[in-house]
Amino acid sequence: MLFKQLFENESSTYTYLISCQEKQEAILIDPVLETLDRDLSIIKRLNLKLMYAIDTHIHADHITSASALREILGCKVAGPGNDKLGCRDINFKDSDNMFIGNSIKMEAIYTPGHTDTHFSYVINYKSEKFLFSGDALLINTCGRTDFQSGSSKELYNTIKNIFYKMPDATKVFPAHDYNKNNFTTIFEQKRSNLLINDSINIENFIYKMNDLNLDKPKKIDIAVPRNINCGTPIQD
Ligand SMILES: [Fe+2]
Repeated sequence: MLFKQLFENESSTYTYLISCQEKQEAILIDPVLETLDRDLSIIKRLNLKLMYAIDTHIHADHITSASALREILGCKVAGPGNDKLGCRDINFKDSDNMFIGNSIKMEAIYTPGHTDTHFSYVINYKSEKFLFSGDALLINTCGRTDFQSGSSKELYNTIKNIFYKMPDATKVFPAHDYNKNNFTTIFEQKRSNLLINDSINIENFIYKMNDLNLDKPKKIDIAVPRNINCGTPIQD
């Protein structure tokens, strides 16, 4: 398995490139329009066939490059089925599997809370488990729940009852990190996540989430309408 974590500076977004070795088939998780040229050149340089551009959710802080990748490379666009986007080719249901080549199986899991339709993706490869947690679980923190039909109660359930039940050694790769951390593990987050760790109950969590007082994302009014269109500009 080839695995690359790529970073977009403006929105601090991580994009993940994963490919199998035998067929050179690849996917991108959460590709960003601003870094389209970089991603195209990496795919070309490594001689990969991009099969799928996949989003974890309808992002509010950046525009997805999913439809641009489809136009240029002919890949398919995939994401949560409950977004009900007509522009996607593949609409995941909870527990759907997708293959990258013959050897890498990725499972799509429904993980609401940051938004009401958010999905995460899990790859088991050899003895390792990789969790692409989108904006649900971040490193030492978690995604906000105060817009896009978010729910702290749902996010608590997703993190405690889905993510924290995964093996301790599971490697967690989030959609963002604002401190240049690359990844974490379930073990670390259960111990030291500042908003949601083993000693925090649902009442504490909801109180902490209500107390975050975050600014509205700068690009939300541009990004969400574009992302509902898989990144394609809206025609008047
Ligand atoms: Fe988000």
